[in-house]
Parts: sequence; structure tokens; C-alpha cells
Amino acid sequence: MNRTAVLLAGVLLTVASSFVGLVVIPDWQLDPLAPVQAPDGTMQPQKPTGSVAEGRAIYSELGCIYCHSQQVRPREFGADQARGWGDRQTHPVDHIYDAPPLLGTMRTGPDLANIGARQPSRSWHHLHLFDPETTSPGSIMPPYRFLYDPVSRDGAGPPETALDLPGEFDDPDYWWVPTDRAEALVDYLLSLDHSYPIDDEL
Ligand code: HEC
Repeated sequence: MNRTAVLLAGVLLTVASSFVGLVVIPDWQLDPLAPVQAPDGTMQPQKPTGSVAEGRAIYSELGCIYCHSQQVRPREFGADQARGWGDRQTHPVDHIYDAPPLLGTMRTGPDLANIGARQPSRSWHHLHLFDPETTSPGSIMPPYRFLYDPVSRDGAGPPETALDLPGEFDDPDYWWVPTDRAEALVDYLLSLDHSYPIDDEL
């Protein structure tokens, strides 16, 4: 008996059901996702633009994703919320403008989904990026010193944006000032705030 037709039908069915399961159904589920109104009246999340978008590109380029995730797990799935990484689990809405999403898989360092809310200090982020040990003694995060420019200290006072390096990290020869790339990266980190409530639990 010729079973070619049965075989073809089987192949077709397999391909069609995978397409429905992996493309059509997720598209139905994700398509209606839209920003929500936060208690302060703003619509969240906001599309990264200007320096925030630039900072996002620098975050990808420098490989921060290899050590940092941006997804808070449900309360019953782990200690993310107990660690202070967020008050609710991540919702697909949080990532509608995150393309490609920088969810990450590794957590050598803490989750950064809400770092802008948890650590809103611009100067803290600059010190930490310049040398993580200035703010976090013993940190194994690499320093990103190349994002800062040295300015010789020949008698002049510090430039307005110079880092206020603590004690042993202070450099007697140079002031260190953030480059535009450092400012953009910090703008991006400060924008990471998904603390607005979302009612619909998944
Ligand atoms: C080799 C792994 C590694 C890489 C790569 C890395 N980090 Fe980290 N990061 C850590 C660790 C470990 C900590 C916790 C200790 C500390 O605060 O330095 C941390 C902490 C942080 C914190 C503070 C988190 C908190 O909850 O206080 C921020 C912000 C951060 N990293 C940003 C970045 C950015 C931006 C990049 C890329 C430019 C980056 N990290 C790359 C390992 C890494």
C-alpha cells in the first residue's frame, strides 16, 4: 500500500501544530499587551529613547547580561522578592519595548529589573562602574574604568562631573570624569524601574 499521503499528512500536521503552538498562540497572548497607568499618572513602561536607548545598547555591548538578569521570579519560585529585587514578579508588559529582551540567564550579580528604584543615586552608579570595590568591597564585578576620562590635576579644582573617589581610591594625579557613554549607561540603569503595580497575575 502506498503510504506517501499518510506520511505527508503527518509531516504537515506536525509542522502546522508547531506553528500554531509556537507562533500563533503566543502572538494572540502577547499582542494585546499595552502600557499600564502607574499611580503617579505616567504610562509604564516607557519606550527607551535618547541616552536611555544608547545606554541600553552599551549594556548589551559590554556584556552586562552575562552576569545580570532582568526578571523577578514569582514569590513561590525563589527568593528574588525576599532579596529586595522587586515587589512583584516580572510581567510580559514590562518588556514590551525591550527588543531584544535583556532578560539574562546568569546571576553572578544581582537582578537589575528594578535597580533604578533600588539605587537611584547617579554618583553611586558612577563610582561602582569606575571600580565596583569603591561601593561594594570584595566585589568580583569587573571595573569599567575605560568609560571615564582622566583630567590632569595641575593645580585646577575638580571638573564639575569629576568622581568623588573615596580615600584609598583617590588618584593624586588625575580627576576622573564620566564619558558620554558612562552617562548614557547610568541613564539606562536609572530607568530600570518596574515597580509600578500590574493587577493581572499570569
Ligand atoms: C563578571 C560578572 C559581572 C559583570 C560582567 C557585570 N557585573 Fe554588575 N555585579 C556583579 C556582582 C558580583 C555584583 C554584586 C557586587 C557589587 O555590588 O559589585 C554586581 C553588582 C552590580 C550592580 C549593583 C546591584 C545592586 O543590587 O546593588 C549594578 C548596578 C551592576 N552590577 C551593573 C552592571 C553593569 C551595568 C555591567 C556592565 C557594564 C555589569 N554590572 C557587569 C557582577 C558582574
